[in-house]
Amino acid sequence: MSTTDAIGYAPPLYEPPHKPGVLKINPDWAYVPPVRPQFTLNLDREETTCLPAVSLEEADRRRQADFPIQRSNRYPSKLIERALVAELAADLGLSDAHVLVGNGIMNILTYIYDIYSRPGDHVTVPTPGFWPAYTYAFQRARGIFMPLYLHDQSDRLHPQFLFPADRTSECLAKGTAICYLCNPNNPTGTLIPFDAIESLVSDFPDCLFIVDEAYGPFAANRLDADRFELDAIVDMIRRGCRNLVVTRTFSKVYALANFRVGYIISHPANIATVKAHMGPYDMSEISLAMAHYNYLDSNYMKNVVRTVIENMAVYEHFLEEHDIPSYGGYRNSLLVEGLHFAEAYERSGIAVRAMVYQREIPNPIASTFRVTIPADVASFRFLMNVSQQIVADLPVVGGGPRRQHLD
Ligand SMILES: Cc1ncc(COP(=O)(O)O)c(C=O)c1O
Repeated sequence: MSTTDAIGYAPPLYEPPHKPGVLKINPDWAYVPPVRPQFTLNLDREETTCLPAVSLEEADRRRQADFPIQRSNRYPSKLIERALVAELAADLGLSDAHVLVGNGIMNILTYIYDIYSRPGDHVTVPTPGFWPAYTYAFQRARGIFMPLYLHDQSDRLHPQFLFPADRTSECLAKGTAICYLCNPNNPTGTLIPFDAIESLVSDFPDCLFIVDEAYGPFAANRLDADRFELDAIVDMIRRGCRNLVVTRTFSKVYALANFRVGYIISHPANIATVKAHMGPYDMSEISLAMAHYNYLDSNYMKNVVRTVIENMAVYEHFLEEHDIPSYGGYRNSLLVEGLHFAEAYERSGIAVRAMVYQREIPNPIASTFRVTIPADVASFRFLMNVSQQIVADLPVVGGGPRRQHLD
């Protein structure tokens, strides 16, 4: 990898053609999610800590009553998928042809990689960003431009990472098949200004822009208590924009990460193209039923969003009071300074996420960790009690010594 201060670069890691029986990739690049069962409370993966509104048993009972051919021995009927797409499209004010449901955002993104870029092409990922997206690029032999977020530390307790619009534009000008814009950004919590996205999308019509709104509901509601989705980018699709895909998921605000349902919103030509590349029976009908019935129960989702935002405010206030810097707050997790603080959480039974990346990725946040804000009373109480205990035991949490790697 070569880097300037402003832009990281990882070249494509191998050349096609790919021959059977030849290992072309380094398996270490693959994203292997951490599974850490030894903790009392896992706040390391941005999973919603409560269960969904509609249980598996209830969704199963209702799908059998509402839709024909739902028995386990039959292939998926696609009827629930169609119903879910119709509901999403109606709420978005778009046609069904603008929406595609798949096995979570991450799976849909793998299709998009294969359709819209070729080995040897480049992708652009403002960094730090949602790093499994890099791993897809490494695994798929795409080179990566990494325009670095601007680190603004003028407010010591509330440092920020600002979207690097000019640096991103510079990378796109070098030739980029796909540009990933995570909004609000994981892990920095940055909300990318709409104007910046709009300019990039219109200046580079040959680049496909993925605007990942996995955490959009938290940002939307923090900005306006009556809103539960960001709307400005989807509005560009309403106006006919062709080089834009918005991704959303049932994993976060609907507490359905285990069921793997996400969706994309885009111009019908892109939706039809991605759909043509998917297998005929990619989606499990029981997962679709969970998404469908939980989507209909939107009050529960709203309550999850509001509760996380309220709890976030309490936690942010606690950090401020104890002189501990943190970033962002537009998502369901917070990036907090101080790995010894993270270690203390883990010793107390709470798993948090150290921001350790592959060597190839520039990492300006190696001294921080990410903590997911709980959505249920008991987990949030536990987090706050443990936090109080840690600061009582470690009076200089915000300014103490740091370790480079947690795990
Ligand atoms: C920014 C971002 N996008 C997408 C995902 C994954 O979404 P899904 O569960 O739908 O694959 C995550 C999961 O943590 C995420 O942080």
